[in-house]
Amino acid sequence: MHVTIKPDIYWVGAIDWNVRSFHGYQTKYGTTYNSYVVEDEKVALVDTVKKGFEDQLFSRLEHAGIDSLDYLVVNHIEMDHAGSVRSVLEKFPEVQLVTNERAKKGLEDAYGIEKEVMIVDTGDELSLGEKTLTFVRTPMVHWPDSMVTYAVEDKVLLPNDAFGLHYASNKRFDDEFSEEEMGRIFYEAAKYYANIVLVYSKHVQRVLNKVEELGLEFDVIAPSHGIIWRDKIPEIIQRYKAWSSGEAEDKIVIIYDSMWKHTEEAAYQVAKGIDEKKTDYRIYNLKKSDWTEVMTEVMLSKGVIVGSPTLNGEIYPTVAGFLTYMKGLEPFDKSAAAFGSYGWSGEAVGKIVNIFDELDFDTIGKAKWVFKADEDGLSDLKNLGREMAEKIKTQ
Ligand code: FEO
Repeated sequence: MHVTIKPDIYWVGAIDWNVRSFHGYQTKYGTTYNSYVVEDEKVALVDTVKKGFEDQLFSRLEHAGIDSLDYLVVNHIEMDHAGSVRSVLEKFPEVQLVTNERAKKGLEDAYGIEKEVMIVDTGDELSLGEKTLTFVRTPMVHWPDSMVTYAVEDKVLLPNDAFGLHYASNKRFDDEFSEEEMGRIFYEAAKYYANIVLVYSKHVQRVLNKVEELGLEFDVIAPSHGIIWRDKIPEIIQRYKAWSSGEAEDKIVIIYDSMWKHTEEAAYQVAKGIDEKKTDYRIYNLKKSDWTEVMTEVMLSKGVIVGSPTLNGEIYPTVAGFLTYMKGLEPFDKSAAAFGSYGWSGEAVGKIVNIFDELDFDTIGKAKWVFKADEDGLSDLKNLGREMAEKIKTQ
């Protein structure tokens, strides 16, 4: 079934209940690929769905009584949204593609689509009759081609990836969820920001400022993943402002892996020091943990403590892999510390600190020791936890 968002504006997307890895992102609640129709004298479809989900899109269009399309607006060419553009063009050969110059090239490069395109840029308008669509370019939120579409008279923002979350549900709107469920929804929104959007935070800030400058008002924010915001719009915008400006909570995340439990024992020793200061923390063994969740905790925490043994002169592979992932997402404004056990050379801790330096983290301490930490070593580790707890309270 289609879902009405506003009179003559419909959700016609697809629900992917069972995707568990979205190019590595652990989607434990699945996701949705949201497409929208704006119907007037002319009918516009805004974004499509991932290839393989066309049947859901087409059956919802049919249910909405849409048997022809005048425009197909492509906000973003990534495969989860533009993967069915070719199928839509085959089903509706007369449809006019509408997108920006960069996305036009993307449609050619990624899909071999060379159909004539109506090129739009920020501020351009497309009249459908009584309803008007306007566009704002949002490069790097999420890709260089990204833009958002705004239904002017209805005050409906269709921002594609921005404000999304990976969450499959039979419910479409934020006000259909209980308060308890909304806690999970906002956490999933944070997870999505941390694992997809964080690296583009400066661009997000620019877009938020641009939206304010243009004076756009929203009754509805309908992203291309997850739920549609119409009740908690100020809350999700406030969170985007906070996440994009590096605001974090008074908590610490301890991330480690261990070969013979020496580094693991150290992680718990660090935690004892944090406990003494009555500060919140979470501990993650990277061998057993969902990196997507760990990354979320990195973004949400002021303090990041990383432990790794040295293996063949390097950071232990699981820790090195996570740090590579984390570095790519460019978390910022963190206090950091490193620790690790070693047998004879002990390079891992120094290499972790080098990564902290690349991210401009404030490294407040480091600790390494041969095999099992002795009494002095255990005391140093506990002290590291205490110092981090004290540091984040002044941050
Ligand atoms: Fe949901 Fe950048 O695609």
